[in-house]
Amino acid sequence: MELLLGTTNPGKVEEAQNLLPGSDQGLNLLTREDISFSSVEEDGLTYRANAIKKACEIGKETGFSVFSEDAGLEVDALDGRPGPFSARFAGEDSTDERNVAKLLEELDGVEDRAARFVSVGVLYLSSGRLLVRRGKLRGRIGKIPRGDSGFGYDPVFIPRGCEKTLAQLGPKIKNRISHRREVLLKIKTQIFQDL
Ligand code: IMP
Repeated sequence: MELLLGTTNPGKVEEAQNLLPGSDQGLNLLTREDISFSSVEEDGLTYRANAIKKACEIGKETGFSVFSEDAGLEVDALDGRPGPFSARFAGEDSTDERNVAKLLEELDGVEDRAARFVSVGVLYLSSGRLLVRRGKLRGRIGKIPRGDSGFGYDPVFIPRGCEKTLAQLGPKIKNRISHRREVLLKIKTQIFQDL
């Protein structure tokens, strides 16, 4: 069985490869290095709209079953921002470092730093069937970036019950608790039934 990972983010590819079954269990995970596909503009207003758009466009272009996902960071003190606009928080063509810097700037002097990561994953089956699943990770935003693993806002996100950031905790622990894990586990149970 073949499933194409519909993302250009190497951090997400690695997490999906760690969490989904491998070829030893009969699932051949393909990436953009195996099957090329065009970039999809994420112009939806919700995670769900963006994830469905990515999975469907890549699925139709390539003819493969595709898993795509859209995620973001929601901060209580910012009324849920940056949300679906997390990648572009500091402007178009922003970088992780600039987004983190803007976040820390906006939260300067703010005591309530509660936040959550939200992920919506979509499995597009070449039969045209769609499966949509959601995952969440609660935590808070630290005062300075710490740690160097992961990507995006990992250096400032401290999961609930922890003192370290996701970037300090590293991939093994992140993959045990993350919003993407919740989505991938829900999707995984469907894969062998539907692919
Ligand atoms: P997208 O889903 O690739 O559009 O990602 C949206 C934004 O949220 C990007 O800036 C990511 O860096 C950020 N993001 C999504 N998931 C994570 C995560 O697990 N850790 C840190 N940042 C994330």
